[in-house]
Amino acid sequence: MLESIREIIDSYDASASLDRASTIPSSWYTDQRIFELEKETVFSRSWQVAARVDQLAKPGDYVTIDIADEPIVVVRGSDNRVRAFFNACRHHAAAVMTEPQGNAPQMRCPYHGWTYSLEGELKGTPDFSGVCDFDRANNGLIPIESDLWEQWVLVRIDRGQNESVESWLGAHLTDEIRALNLNDLKWFERRTYTIDCNWKVFVDNYLDGGYHVPHLHKGLDSVLDYRSYIIECGQRHCLQSSPMVATGEKSVAATRTGDRALYYWIHPNFMINCYEGVMDTNLVRPITVDKTEVIFDFYFADVSDAARARNLASVAVGDRIQQEDLDICASVQRGLKSRAYDAGRLSVRREAGEHLFHRLLYADLKAGIEST
Ligand code: FES
Ligand SMILES: [Fe+2]
Repeated sequence: MLESIREIIDSYDASASLDRASTIPSSWYTDQRIFELEKETVFSRSWQVAARVDQLAKPGDYVTIDIADEPIVVVRGSDNRVRAFFNACRHHAAAVMTEPQGNAPQMRCPYHGWTYSLEGELKGTPDFSGVCDFDRANNGLIPIESDLWEQWVLVRIDRGQNESVESWLGAHLTDEIRALNLNDLKWFERRTYTIDCNWKVFVDNYLDGGYHVPHLHKGLDSVLDYRSYIIECGQRHCLQSSPMVATGEKSVAATRTGDRALYYWIHPNFMINCYEGVMDTNLVRPITVDKTEVIFDFYFADVSDAARARNLASVAVGDRIQQEDLDICASVQRGLKSRAYDAGRLSVRREAGEHLFHRLLYADLKAGIEST
């Protein structure tokens, strides 16, 4: 018989300590109802990275993105402030801005030409005279909460949570990230990957404390000291870090230098990976219950022409590691659908981050189901 969504959520024991815990059940990765509830809760109630600040350098610069099926536009206004709006025209709901990013003096809907200022006010409504009880002032684009943090613009779809990004992330994390001076790094390139798996498979793979590194990523393994891997869990984040060894595989060692590799995961779907003078971020975007897009942005301290070849080599190393992860994630998704698998145990040494992720998911879903 079909289990109710409540039964599926309650089949995970969030109170078990790591040494007794199992993963979330396989149905969480395959059930359409869980996927829908995640959009309403996990992705609508959290702060979500929507754009990079460097994409919005001057007034009129904008970025569009869909988050949890909501079309969103982030734009820098004439007053230099960054704002976010639902990218749905107040006339008949068409997307007002249709390019992934660009610059525009105003926001004009391509359907019937309604125009909005960069601050979201409705300015132009062709052929609309004689319409009764129509208040232009109440028909601007609907704003959405937004905030800047480090190199990113974050938005939150659900209103009324009244918590800034910094307080939501917690001082522990924001102090640590501030000390890394990430603003000294400049954006270099974006790569987008589509993976045949539920979004949580990718996050689990990221959060296994390096467990898979010696088996799946031989090149990366050669520059990391696997035995000294450290896993630190905060309120809504996990830092996995590893000392670097200089004697590893040549192509990897040349582009992954410094004392430590730092891998920050921020619940639910953003990762910041730092080596010396190098950073890449991963934004995990659920597309369907078994399809996920991951956006990689690569940043370097030096993005001059002289450094270009070295930067491209670094991106290529990241690309190779990513291909290895894509294949294993698709394999896991197939296994999760098998009648033979329901849940698995967690390594106490390695998988504390995954345990945190699963408990946070449980809290999000539980709160969602209680409020419906
Ligand atoms: S839907 Fe935008 S102008 Fe009609
Ligand atoms: Fe990996």
